[in-house]
Amino acid sequence: MLPKSEIPILQGPMLGASTPDMVVAASLAGGIGSLGAAGYAPGALTEAITGIRQRVGGKPFLINLFVLEPARPDAAALANAMRQLAPWRAELGLAEQAIPNKWAEDFAAQFDVLVETAPPIASFTFGILSAEQCARLKARGIAVVGTATTVAEARAWAEIGADAICASGFESGGHRGTFLKPVEESLVGVVSLVPAIRAATGLPVIAAGGIMEGRSIAAMLQLGAEAVQMGTAFLLAEESAISAPWRAELKGKDADATRLTRAFSGRYARGLENRFLREMADKEIPPYPIQNALTQELRAASARAGRSEMLSLWAGQGVHAIREGRTTDLVRIFWDEARAAMRDTLARFDP
Ligand SMILES: Cc1cc2nc3c(=O)[nH]c(=O)nc-3n(C[C@H](O)[C@H](O)[C@H](O)COP(=O)(O)O)c2cc1C
Repeated sequence: MLPKSEIPILQGPMLGASTPDMVVAASLAGGIGSLGAAGYAPGALTEAITGIRQRVGGKPFLINLFVLEPARPDAAALANAMRQLAPWRAELGLAEQAIPNKWAEDFAAQFDVLVETAPPIASFTFGILSAEQCARLKARGIAVVGTATTVAEARAWAEIGADAICASGFESGGHRGTFLKPVEESLVGVVSLVPAIRAATGLPVIAAGGIMEGRSIAAMLQLGAEAVQMGTAFLLAEESAISAPWRAELKGKDADATRLTRAFSGRYARGLENRFLREMADKEIPPYPIQNALTQELRAASARAGRSEMLSLWAGQGVHAIREGRTTDLVRIFWDEARAAMRDTLARFDP
């Protein structure tokens, strides 16, 4: 069962942006804070979960992981990818690239930490658990949320015993969670996805994608969503970990400023268009997590240099409505706006 919160708003898990401070603030405000923990080594993950639990005083919070198989890079594809990145590295003054000693954190070890530490909610993206893994989590009292970008993916999560589905519309910032069909066949808008998944699975649905303020929260609840998950709306929060050039780029954008790209990580993700995204568009890119690991130093160096051209500037289609503030205030403001929006709609048509 999905734990209830006072406010049906999840601050979305965001690897590279969400922080334990943000999670605690969102949960204490009455919403549900979520930590994007896919990049956490097992020891750091244990520490983060234990620390958040101590600070939220019994309120629900969520830990999110990427379901990944161990990477097996193809030697020729790897050499080509490194060659393509060489001029970008040179531009930032980085030394010749060494093959990373780790492509990604070990999902099996991270999963064991979840079972041991038992956070109230765990959500997953990029793939699906086995029924046995899902049962192990549920036996520890952990509510399991599966990310779906299509109705078929939602059905697959329902079959393995998930407690709820995060319906991720194509509007969403960050990586697509798609795991059954090619991304091109899995681009469904959140308005279509939420009621369709609700009807197909009967499970509680968490609506994600382009939700930036009270009116869209109200609309999703009207469509039958149990709660909303907002990512981009928290990127400029005080507790967000994003770099200064990324922060600067997020301000003053239009709704059509984002693109889907594989250039940074090897997996489709939505972010603001920049030079790297444009110039790498026609290149052969190795799959996630290979390209992600290969561009890691480049992205970090770009951020340090205060340059946004080589940064992955993840953002959703609602970026034009982004606001700054403290996470606590944002959660409360969004919910006040949603309640006002529901009242206003009734007053307009049923005075
Ligand atoms: C910078 C960024 C990082 C993200 N990282 C994750 C992640 O680690 N795991 C995950 O399940 N979703 C991730 N997401 C998706 C969000 O949790 C959320 O579902 C999405 O942002 C909703 O769409 P919106 O950005 O239009 O609000 C990320 C989104 C952004 C913008």
